[in-house]
Amino acid sequence: MSFNSMAESIRFFSLQWQILSLTIALLVYFPIVSGSFFKPFNVSYDHRALIIAGKRRMLVSAGIHYPRATPEMWSDLIAKSKEGGADVIQTYVFWSGHEPVKGQYNFEGRYDLVKFVKLIGSSGLYLHLRIGPYVCAEWNFGGFPVWLRDIPGIEFRTDNEPFKKEMQKFVTKIVDLMREAKLFCWQGGPIIMLQIENEYGDVEKSYGQKGKDYVKWAASMALGLGAGVPWVMCKQTDAPQNIIDACNGYYCDGFKPNSQMKPILWTEDWDGWYTKWGGSLPHRPAEDLAFAVARFYQRGGSFQNYYMYFGGTNFGRTSGGPFYITSYDYDAPLDEYGLRSEPKWGHLKDLHAAIKLCEPALVAADAPQYRKLGSNQEAHIYRGDGETGGKVCAAFLANIDEHKSAHVKFNGQSYTLLPWSVSILPDCRHVAFNTAKVGAQTSVKTVESARPSLGSKSILQKVVRQDNVSYISKSWMALKEPIGIWGENNFTFQGLLEHLNVTKDRSDYLWHKTRITVSEDDISFWKKNGANPTVSIDSMRDVLRVFVNKQLSGSVVGHWVKAVQPVRFMQGNNDLLLLTQTVGLQNYGAFLEKDGAGFRGKAKLTGFKNGDMDLAKSSWTYQVGLKGEAEKIYTVEHNEKAEWSTLETDASPSIFMWYKILLFLI
Ligand SMILES: *[C@@H]1O[C@H](CO)[C@@H](O)[C@H](O)[C@H]1NC(C)=O
Ligand SMILES: *[C@@H]1O[C@H](CO)[C@@H](O)[C@H](O)[C@H]1NC(C)=O
Ligand SMILES: *[C@@H]1O[C@H](CO)[C@@H](O)[C@H](O)[C@H]1NC(C)=O
Ligand SMILES: *[C@@H]1O[C@H](CO)[C@@H](O)[C@H](O)[C@H]1NC(C)=O
Repeated sequence: MSFNSMAESIRFFSLQWQILSLTIALLVYFPIVSGSFFKPFNVSYDHRALIIAGKRRMLVSAGIHYPRATPEMWSDLIAKSKEGGADVIQTYVFWSGHEPVKGQYNFEGRYDLVKFVKLIGSSGLYLHLRIGPYVCAEWNFGGFPVWLRDIPGIEFRTDNEPFKKEMQKFVTKIVDLMREAKLFCWQGGPIIMLQIENEYGDVEKSYGQKGKDYVKWAASMALGLGAGVPWVMCKQTDAPQNIIDACNGYYCDGFKPNSQMKPILWTEDWDGWYTKWGGSLPHRPAEDLAFAVARFYQRGGSFQNYYMYFGGTNFGRTSGGPFYITSYDYDAPLDEYGLRSEPKWGHLKDLHAAIKLCEPALVAADAPQYRKLGSNQEAHIYRGDGETGGKVCAAFLANIDEHKSAHVKFNGQSYTLLPWSVSILPDCRHVAFNTAKVGAQTSVKTVESARPSLGSKSILQKVVRQDNVSYISKSWMALKEPIGIWGENNFTFQGLLEHLNVTKDRSDYLWHKTRITVSEDDISFWKKNGANPTVSIDSMRDVLRVFVNKQLSGSVVGHWVKAVQPVRFMQGNNDLLLLTQTVGLQNYGAFLEKDGAGFRGKAKLTGFKNGDMDLAKSSWTYQVGLKGEAEKIYTVEHNEKAEWSTLETDASPSIFMWYKILLFLI
């Protein structure tokens, strides 16, 4: 997709809201979530595995981010994870959602972390809680609340006192909250492991010695909270002695932690990927994913988490960026709606069942024996004394040739190994599972889209039919968003202000308006040269729209790109309007607090007879946000306040239009 059509789709989607008016009678079963869920137990680890209540365990974990689902979905998602063979749920903790205003906490609704953790406990699963509090996660600003950047002298994720103070306060808050609700395993709760920071190894070099000091500080701060369970730092090769460094990636079977005392953990197995506006939908085949997981346990791994098992939705303005879409489906085993994505979900379920059969042998051996079976084929054998007496043995036979099957001999038997596959032998003889043989059924999802149909006048249109449910709708309604300054809370300032400094990320949008006076001489100068003046900005993100006298001159889309937009003025006074727009704040990289939004560098109007005009010297009137946003016309409660009109057959879309449709369930 080109940038232009990308800009179009951003405009279309960011202003298009569907207001659903559904009357559904739902019988919801709320499990009773109180009290303790397990007999209290401790978690420790050795070089081989996490040790849970005194026993090494091979664990499969399902990544689910609670605010990317609705609380009504949580029980079902957890149940489907358990049915799919997960032992553990893993989530990040989303600081920006929990502390939207400094010192004012939110643990309600989609941010009801205690409820989410209790549901996990009541289902008998464990939890790996990744507090961060930097989480990346394709989440707006990497999970940092935007107010954090306004703290004087702050530098994120480094040896910086103002940052460390806020980070410690939040991490302490979460650990205390979990402890008060008795959610740690030694209290009978499901939490077996925590995480501090996140993939800091990727940016550590940018911070020099201060980065190294920060890692040490973060580790000792975390350990000092007395949470009583192991802490992880992922992608952190210099993780201190008492913190487990873990792997994130598509394949982690070659990973070795930085000490022989630490187990091999895979905190993020990327089973798909996120999507950018205009980007293609990711797909990772179930066979390759199963291969990667089997190879991991084959080569000594003991804990693997699917990132994501359920990806879900970036509700509201939580998408990170720049330019990530609201769906976080991720091609995960459970799709955005919580439905099983087949054959991925089923194939992994079969894989997990095979790994579980191997668990007694996997935990009995201190390390696998390696045996080469061919040029691209290898076996790893786990042998030891079973818990109930007697010998146990499990083997993984891998063919890492991508194209050719292989015939191998192992323990006197012949085996055929499909290309790029692992056969799992829970008794060292019989193949329980091969990663390239998919037994699970394939499901096909069809999606019928309900776009505004300019061509239809019918009052009732059938929109969607799914299973035995039909939705009918009235026709589309539309509302024009005013172009320019629209309300009382505008203000005027001499100079160009930084976008985020003004919006505080309360909205994606910031209007800037100034007056440009054009002389007769300028007009004739342009005529003579056959050239128009140009708005020229050194660098901007994510979207800029330029209007002259309320007419759109053009748009620029990009991530810190130069903007050059020709404009046409009339003689006399002209209103020059610049609308800057964010499409998800940066969530990855060093120095996030300095990234900002809107413009950087010089902003000029070029091509005037008397030379360039420095726009930073002009007087600008500013307005944060859109009128429709301020009036919350996208909510069920407030939408009727606005003057909607039926979208007519011959209506040409305005530059900024809100759309709504009412859907009725029949
Ligand atoms: C867990 O470990 C702590 C500290 O060593 C100990 O006091 C406690 O009794 C242990 N709990 C269980 C259930 O083993
Ligand atoms: C749809 O309705 C038919 C007949 O009433 C029923 O047999 C079938 O199970 C229903 N399907 C679903 C998905 O509810
Ligand atoms: C801008 O704000 C001023 C001062 O509050 C107000 O008088 C004016 O009407 C506002 N402009 C618009 C277009 O609402
Ligand atoms: C944002 O505002 C702060 C003061 O509130 C100022 O120090 C900083 O330079 C501003 N950032 C930009 C890019 O203008």
